[in-house]
Amino acid sequence: MFSKESLFNSRNLPGQSSLVILFVCFFCLFVLVFFSERVVPFLSRPTLPALLLPTGLHLFSSNAICRYLFEVSGQECSEFCNQWLEWEATDLQLCLNCLYIGLYDPFCDLLPSFLIFSLLSLLFHFPVSFTGEHKSVNGWFDRVASIHSCLSAAQKVLQGKGLQGMKSYMQRQPAPQSSQGRNTQPCNCNPIEVSARLSGKRNILVTSALPYVNNVPHLGNIIGCVLSADVFSRYGRLRGWNLLFVCGTDEYGTATENKAREEGLTPQLICDKYHAVHSSIYKWFQIDFDFFGRTTTEKQTEIAQDIFWRLHKNGFLVEDTVEQLRCEQCQRFLADRFVEGICPHCKYPEARGDQCDKCGRLINAVELREPQCKVCRQTPVIRSSKHLFLDLPKLETQLEQWLEKSTSTGDWTTNAKQITRSWLRDGLKPRCITRDLLWGTPVPHPDFKEKVFYVWFDAPIGYLSITANYTDEWEKWWKNPHQVELYNFMAKDNVPFHSVVFPCSLLGAQDNYTLVSHLVATEYLNYEDTKFSKSRGVGVFGDMAKDTGIPADVWRFYLLYVRPEGQDSAFSWADMALKNNSELLNNLGNFINRAGMFVTKFFEGCVPVMELQQEDKKLLALVGWELQQYIQLMDKVKIRDALKHILNISRHGNQYIQVNEPWKNIKGGDTERQRAGTVTGVSVNIACLLSVMLMPYMPEVSQTIRNQLNAPQSCVSTMLQGNGTFVCSLCAGHRIGTVSPLFQKLEADQIEALKKRFGGQQVFDPAAVPAPAAAVEVVTVNGVDPEKAKQLTQAVAEQGDKVRALKAQNAEKAVITAEVAKLLDLKKQLALAEGKSPEPAPQKGKKKK
Ligand code: MF3
Ligand code: ZN
Repeated sequence: MFSKESLFNSRNLPGQSSLVILFVCFFCLFVLVFFSERVVPFLSRPTLPALLLPTGLHLFSSNAICRYLFEVSGQECSEFCNQWLEWEATDLQLCLNCLYIGLYDPFCDLLPSFLIFSLLSLLFHFPVSFTGEHKSVNGWFDRVASIHSCLSAAQKVLQGKGLQGMKSYMQRQPAPQSSQGRNTQPCNCNPIEVSARLSGKRNILVTSALPYVNNVPHLGNIIGCVLSADVFSRYGRLRGWNLLFVCGTDEYGTATENKAREEGLTPQLICDKYHAVHSSIYKWFQIDFDFFGRTTTEKQTEIAQDIFWRLHKNGFLVEDTVEQLRCEQCQRFLADRFVEGICPHCKYPEARGDQCDKCGRLINAVELREPQCKVCRQTPVIRSSKHLFLDLPKLETQLEQWLEKSTSTGDWTTNAKQITRSWLRDGLKPRCITRDLLWGTPVPHPDFKEKVFYVWFDAPIGYLSITANYTDEWEKWWKNPHQVELYNFMAKDNVPFHSVVFPCSLLGAQDNYTLVSHLVATEYLNYEDTKFSKSRGVGVFGDMAKDTGIPADVWRFYLLYVRPEGQDSAFSWADMALKNNSELLNNLGNFINRAGMFVTKFFEGCVPVMELQQEDKKLLALVGWELQQYIQLMDKVKIRDALKHILNISRHGNQYIQVNEPWKNIKGGDTERQRAGTVTGVSVNIACLLSVMLMPYMPEVSQTIRNQLNAPQSCVSTMLQGNGTFVCSLCAGHRIGTVSPLFQKLEADQIEALKKRFGGQQVFDPAAVPAPAAAVEVVTVNGVDPEKAKQLTQAVAEQGDKVRALKAQNAEKAVITAEVAKLLDLKKQLALAEGKSPEPAPQKGKKKK
């Protein structure tokens, strides 16, 4: 394996084969600590390294890897080697386990790097060069040697004395202790078998419904899918699950074609533009996707067409002639969403061509009574055209069997189960999967050359193609139903497509697809006491949140606090201010800040020694219980409920501090001072736990807390591993950093101003602006009218003032545009009333960009 015959001469040092072992052990350690690349294709984040065998299996344990390497190299594993392997499995692992769970914090970041560096320095004294299939190891050495922490660790440890220095350093470190005999400390440092954590690791695939590219998402959209999925993904990573979180923009369909027409761009350019808008919004909200892709890619075409041909081959597609609505004025077939009319089931007057928002039933556009083209309001005509249908009735039995199992073993929200059940109760009908459009994935069948796939057939396939654009190993996620659990996050209107239609596509395609195990659907979020509405300018949209000056984490907190979980809920400015001031500022922030300040002020910034009394143990038990609730709820994706348990912990903590008055005890005798120390130490450890529990909800605040406490990185992975047992991560003697307040008060006048700005009262309402043609007509008929001209002069002056004021206030662009439109219109009317010829009518009612 090595090009040098013998690397070591010293009698205390292992020989060549032992070096292999050491090397592998340390290599693993090293990757664990430093590497940020994906080692196992399966894993999406830096995690434990592994050896990929030609058979496709992975070896995780360094011992197993060693034995394997011996085996393939045809070498014998000597007694001496076995001794080293045993040392690794027992002494070294034990020591590392303690390290991972925070037993030796100050030492924590150093041990692995100095071990590695020691090995390196050994090797560098005896330069080696790997050849053949092992030559990539050389690059590894180079990289390690250039890592600053390795160099500084080595300096600290070896002190220029080489291995001798390492030995004396090791001797000065406390020996690993077993958990017995540590009962007087709140530390609960049971070593966790690292490899045990790996085996049986859950592979979790998380998707968020793909947002339509041409809409700027509002707060309701954000909480419904991306934010909920993000919180769960972050939680899953905390739990050590092997998790992949994908999302992207849903880009095909008429909506995009329309937007393109409106803005005078090609559909592709529209998609590019708005994909970037979405990306930046989610980035601001700290949505931590592994990959945020899009549906207009070659992979999408490839995978969608593959599924199509499979369905075709397996006999799940049927042909039929369809009556379609065509708008002669717009010269095109109308996509379902662009027809509006009366619902044939419940008589709701504004039902869309695909679904009724009132009764939730699916509709065939031609069944709508009094249909209208949504663009031009003309009555469309019926034309017939040949289309392909997914034979849902033929797949129904199979679907039901799968649903039975998935809904009983997985965590489906109640609404998801109900909606699905009602769909099945009505009986399934074949669903058309083709459309007469240009902007879509082309149907590959020669008889349907001019058509594209219906966006609801195509879009969910986006989950697969987006994953494929992220990793070539996408099939390990999407064609692996026994090893992968799929979580779909969405708002409730998306349920039937994810529980019935898309699963039928995948079942019919028969390629061992991963189907949804947990369907997580939110109810709707309202805005104050109305609905979010882009056209009426009501509500906060993703791109505006950052202009409010309120930090992203506070937005996240409040949205998650009112997450429509189980029932509709509402965003309210007053409530947001209240929750910020009472929960974040007075409860959570106050507790964490007090705990840190006590350490700083009373104990010179070092965590004091804790001697637990009955009362402290009671508190810790209470905290442990809240933590258990949190874990149980999070495991079941009850995100809103779990958040309440974080706040309960800080409430208990505040009470504990209030009752124990460390600020008084610190001024007393030894016993009192010791008491102040224990209360402070316990509190600051709870603060650290809170930072970890907060991580999925408020990632930035969470990090800030750990920075302030100078908490070891290890606490992030260990605090939730014990299933609710409290882990002490800041032991006596730990030095914390600089503590400062975490939250700011939201003042009443600030909130009032925001409410006005987003309330929708003075905002652009296209319906309120008279259509230019109509306005012109009225005045033209009236002819010259001095009285009217006088009124209009006055109106023009007032409107001009209004526009100038708005511009001075830096009001929303849409508001200004609307008011300018009104001004121009008034001027035109004035011109007519004065008998002058008006200037050509500017385009109004449509947003110009
Ligand atoms: N674009 C759809 C919406 O916003 C969701 C599509 S989800 C997918 O309602 F599964 F189809 F991708
Ligand atoms: Zn039309």
